[in-house]
Order: sequence, then structure tokens, then C-alpha cells
Amino acid sequence: MLFRCCIGKEDVKQFYPFLAGRQACAYLSVVFWLSMDLTSSQHNHLNNEQRRKLERQAGEKEEEQIVTEIMRRRFFPDVITYKAWEGFHFAGHEIRITEATDCYGAVVWPSALVLCYFLETNSKQYNLVDKNVIEIGAGTGLVSIVASLLGALVTATDLPELLGNLQHNVLQNTKLKCKHQPCVKELSWGIDLEKNFPRASYHFDYIMAADVVYHHPFLDELLLTFDHLCKNDTVIMWAMKFRLDNENQFVDRFQTLFDLEVISNFPSLNITLYKAMRKGRMKVRPSKLSV
Ligand SMILES: C[S@@+](CC[C@H](N)C(=O)[O-])C[C@H]1O[C@@H](n2cnc3c(N)ncnc32)[C@H](O)[C@@H]1O
Repeated sequence: MLFRCCIGKEDVKQFYPFLAGRQACAYLSVVFWLSMDLTSSQHNHLNNEQRRKLERQAGEKEEEQIVTEIMRRRFFPDVITYKAWEGFHFAGHEIRITEATDCYGAVVWPSALVLCYFLETNSKQYNLVDKNVIEIGAGTGLVSIVASLLGALVTATDLPELLGNLQHNVLQNTKLKCKHQPCVKELSWGIDLEKNFPRASYHFDYIMAADVVYHHPFLDELLLTFDHLCKNDTVIMWAMKFRLDNENQFVDRFQTLFDLEVISNFPSLNITLYKAMRKGRMKVRPSKLSV
């Protein structure tokens, strides 16, 4: 005999905290109603299936909302000017980024927005005030600018041909707005690392990197650069856009040197934000931990 099993909002809240509203109650009521004639293991299986499905849907909805929120931070000029620029709202500031003519460093890539949004919305846990930060492959400089506006002492780096535009953007958006004036410096991955960033005199609390892994022939040099700059207590914040299998394997190679933790994931953008620290590092006393 079938009979209707009613589920109220309170039940939904208790067992399915990610759901809300009448639609969810009705949906779950039907699930229970249909399953009354099944054995208890079939019943459990069905419940688990449905729960997973609903959890997945709730996760997708939440991701969609955050992605919308991240993309809303970007705006474009009302009128077209001779110099192309795009605007962003982060850390309580309007940031204007001038685009360059170089192909990869020309525009702000979505990974940079994901990283900036994370830094802004997690500024208590990842407090950047007075922290030494280096960004590699900074491109047009958005991440470096946001880290500076959040109080860090930033070194923005990229290939020599990118530095003019990077310097322009960094200066235009941080002058008289930041606790520490950021600096811009050449860092070609794997080249003259010890000469330009001697291990004995450089210490970075954070290494930031957004969308530095793609189809280019310098993946070995990139790994070497992370390795050179990263001390035992350095935290790497790396936003990775997944594209082709070959480049995606970089994550496995990266993990031979660093412990990797996913701190944000956006499947709809194919972007994952990782936090990483050197493998086998000596443990720092809790009072010295910065994050
Ligand atoms: C896809 S862009 C990302 C730029 C910026 N991080 C963003 O997300 O908007 C990749 C960046 O890596 C830099 N890059 C590529 N190869 C490099 C190398 N061998 N050494 C240093 N930087 C490099 C490019 O110049 C470019 O700025």
C-alpha cells in the first residue's frame, strides 16, 4: 500500500541543510512516497542517490552564484578610447588595467579574478598586511595590485617585454593608495634565479601565480622557479586553468615538491585555486604560523 509521506521544512533543514523552500520539500516528499514499497536497502540506496544528486545540484548552484559574483567585479569603459582598458572592483578600489599588445600578458585572465576574489574575501585567514609577496607571470598586474591594496609588500614579475605595461598598471592603481609601494622586476622563469633573487637575502611569505601553466615550453623552468623562491614557510597561492592533458600533468610534477591543497574550485571555469607548501618542511611553532 502506498501512502504519502509528508516532509516539512524543518525536516529538510535538519537533514538537507543545503536545501530550502517548498520546492525542496515537495521533491523530497515524492522521493519518500515513491520509495515506500522498496526494501530497506533499496530504500537507502535510493535515498543516497537522491541525496548525492541534490548535493551536487546545490553545489553547482552555489558555484554559479560565486562565479557570477566574481565576474561582476569586471567592467568595461562606456566609451572606446585610444588605449584599451578594463576595470575591476576589488579591495574597495576601482582598478583600471591597460591592456598590452603581447598575446598572453595582454589581458586579465579569469584565473587572476578568481585569485583576487579569494584574497579579498579571505583576508582574515590570509592576512597580507606587511607580508612579502612575489607574483610570477603577473601579466597586466591585477593580482599584484590587489595584494598591494590589501597591505602586502609586493614584487610583481614577468618577462622583460611585459614590464612597461605592468609597471604602468601597478603605479596607476597603487600610488598613494597602499601601505607599501609595490615594485616591478624582471623574472624570466628559470633564468638567473640565484643572481636576481639570491636565496640568502630573499624571503617571501607568499608566491602568487595565476594561469601560468598553459601551452608553453617553460614548464620545467616554471617548476624550478617555484622551487627556488619557496622557503619552508612560504605559501604558494596558485590559480590553475585546466586546458590540455599535457599541461595538466604539471600538477603531478608540482606535487613531487609541494603539498597541494584545493582551496577553491570552479568546474564551470575549469579553474582550481591551490594552496601549496614545500613538502617535508620543518614544522613551524604555532605562534609563528601566519595562516
Ligand atoms: C596567461 S598569462 C597570465 C597573466 C596573469 N597572471 C593573469 O592571470 O591575468 C601568462 C603570463 O605568464 C608570463 N610568462 C610566460 N612565460 C614566461 C616565462 N618564461 N617567464 C616569465 N613569465 C612568463 C606571460 O608573459 C604572461 O604574463
